[in-house]
Amino acid sequence: MALHIISHPLIQHKLTLMRRKETGSGDFRRLLEEITLLMGYEVTRDLPLEPVPIETPIGPAEGQRIAGRKIVIVPVLRAGLGMLDGMLKLIPSARVGVIGLFRDPKTLEPVEYYCKLPDTADRDFIVVDPMLATGGSSAAAITMLKKRGVQHIKLMCLVSAPEGVECVSRAHPDVEIYTAALDDHLNEHGYIVPGLGDAGDRIFGTK
Ligand code: PRP
Ligand code: URA
Repeated sequence: MALHIISHPLIQHKLTLMRRKETGSGDFRRLLEEITLLMGYEVTRDLPLEPVPIETPIGPAEGQRIAGRKIVIVPVLRAGLGMLDGMLKLIPSARVGVIGLFRDPKTLEPVEYYCKLPDTADRDFIVVDPMLATGGSSAAAITMLKKRGVQHIKLMCLVSAPEGVECVSRAHPDVEIYTAALDDHLNEHGYIVPGLGDAGDRIFGTK
């Protein structure tokens, strides 16, 4: 298992603003997009490059361009949508797959309701979901991708609980997890402590 905690000061500052209960939906969405851009820099650090001959105004040069497998971003509905635009700003040519899952509030088990993916052959998939709590939703989303033939998957979360990291790592040891924070624990309702509350509700202004 590889867990990457991205502790850049800008990310930690912005995440602290997101955690504050006074932060409204507009600021919450903007901060989530800004953090996604910053995290995306690390999540894509290992993308392969290939040399490309170019002409600058001064003369010929060898540049670099991203090579290898094409990228698919997969937001897990609903809250993962808050990270989609940031990733597409970084990788405008990425394809987008969508997975619909919600966590049953009583059992905390994930309930699947939607899956639409582009061609899965020979692509790198990045699953985005701000919250990794019990890990049930992320583990289920990754299982859904693997059942459809996806082999190369990274998971990108904003806030994680140790329980969620353990769950995903056990179910999918091949998947690297990127998070901005590893929080303390889950409360009796399965919410991350201290966390930031219900990410979907805070993004969309629902309750
Ligand atoms: C939240 C969050 C994750 C899940 C995390 O979604 O966006 O998908 O909970 O919890 P878990 O790790 O214990 O499975 P939620 O079920 O609230 O759905 P929503 O995004 O539609 O509000
Ligand atoms: N889902 C959320 O949105 N927040 C949590 O703390 C746990 C699950």
